[in-house]
Amino acid sequence: GERLDFRASKQRLLVVANRLPVSAVRHGEDSWQLEMSVGGLVTALLGVKEFDTRWIGWAGVNVPDEIGQKALAKALDEKRCIPVFLDEEVVHQYYNGYCNNILWPLFHYIGLPQEDRLATTRSFQSQFDAYKKANQLFADVVNEHYEEGDVVWCHDYHLMFLPKCLKERNSKMKVGWFLHTPFPSSEIHRMLPSRLELLRSVLAADLVGFHTYDYARHFVSACTRILGLEGTPEGVEDQGKLTRIAAFPVGIDSERFIKALELPEVQDHMKVLKQRFAGRKVMLGVDRLDMIKGIPQKILAFEKFLEENPNWRNKVVLLQIAVPSRTDVPEYQKLTSQVHEIVGRINGRFGSLTALPIHHLDRSLDFHELCALYAVTDVALVTSLRDGMNLVSYEYVACQESKKGVLILSEFAGAAQSLGAGAILVNPWNVTEVASSIGYALNMPADEREKRHHHNFKHVISHTAQEWAATFVSELNVTIVEAQLRTRQ
Ligand code: ADP
Ligand code: G6P
Repeated sequence: GERLDFRASKQRLLVVANRLPVSAVRHGEDSWQLEMSVGGLVTALLGVKEFDTRWIGWAGVNVPDEIGQKALAKALDEKRCIPVFLDEEVVHQYYNGYCNNILWPLFHYIGLPQEDRLATTRSFQSQFDAYKKANQLFADVVNEHYEEGDVVWCHDYHLMFLPKCLKERNSKMKVGWFLHTPFPSSEIHRMLPSRLELLRSVLAADLVGFHTYDYARHFVSACTRILGLEGTPEGVEDQGKLTRIAAFPVGIDSERFIKALELPEVQDHMKVLKQRFAGRKVMLGVDRLDMIKGIPQKILAFEKFLEENPNWRNKVVLLQIAVPSRTDVPEYQKLTSQVHEIVGRINGRFGSLTALPIHHLDRSLDFHELCALYAVTDVALVTSLRDGMNLVSYEYVACQESKKGVLILSEFAGAAQSLGAGAILVNPWNVTEVASSIGYALNMPADEREKRHHHNFKHVISHTAQEWAATFVSELNVTIVEAQLRTRQ
């Protein structure tokens, strides 16, 4: 039939995500400074421009006092953001505990926490209770700001309980939910003690979206195998109610990167970097410091490459920029020291008085520095052990029009399905394979580099964040109209 298109009007959109695009730092009783948040979700959603958008999320800090809360709400209002205040204990159990110590590792095939199994089992229920409580608090704020006709778009594994909470408050609300991580095989999801409740709650949404067709398929089979529901080509059906399920691969705001390369400050950064590393090939890693990113594996592969290729030792450098993330979770703390230990060892082994093979920074870069780095480096190394999509790979490609550098990409990142043919795909667990891919990338002839880059670039500029959001919201509107037609029949 005729395709309904709601894109023309500026529709009101409530984006609900745990992380707001800005994070708050307190400077006084009622004074706040806002900084850009880091992560793929924020990058994707910042590219969403054509709606009348409000963003509802956790303020990122504990604000126990009313004066502070009021002042922060006011500062955020200028960015069209609405804070959800969570107290320290809830954050500990919900964000550090259930989200980042249970769901995140499970969805990335790392499994459930294994140390001290009994303690984990005991704390599991209280963490899940805090998770549900936090989701209820998000629902309260959404409800307060909701106007009839709004589209409510919930994001990510932090808010799997939200669709149900919202529909219980208002069954007419248009609710979509999108997962930014992989959805694992149903055999993995089965391990989760709260597996039923989470699936049922997500199914309360009208439309459920994933980055890839595989993740969508895994979700449908979890619903059929674990809940015993019927899967249809459109989604999952439960007692006559259809939940639409589909893949919506995210992209970036590629224009923003391409344009930035013309800015004088970016050009200045590029000049400095080129001088600094003149005569050497430069490889780049940019990641949140997270176990899913395979940073130790990447560095070990680089070590193996140096070991086997003595002639490259003073001619190549790896810049690894790893912004600290979720630093209250013990696993992340362990990872930091592990990475430092490996980097120190390799620099001690292969460094000289004048040059180090690895430059490792534990911090985030500002947008201009990041663009300059993307533009001047010869090879990007993205070695995630699992990754929903991985937007760093897209950003690198967007900035490589003149240099035509090589992208080495994990086959376990969602991006492997879109940039597959242009990148060198690797199994990040296979250090030997990654080491030889590094050699292949560094020696790649210009015409092959050009061909591969062109393939990637075409994809990145034509599959943008804007397009992603517009498609999702339009699909959600269509889904709701179709559901209304069905009930009238
Ligand atoms: P994830 O969502 O798991 O962090 P993505 O690769 O999809 O992974 O997105 C990461 C986002 O965070 C990208 O937009 C990237 O530019 C940004 N980012 C990651 N590390 C840094 C860093 N060290 N400095 C600045 N930005 C960073
Ligand atoms: C990933 C998740 C996002 C999250 C981001 C940064 O991209 O999918 O939901 O915002 O990582 O992590 P953080 O815990 O700092 O929000």
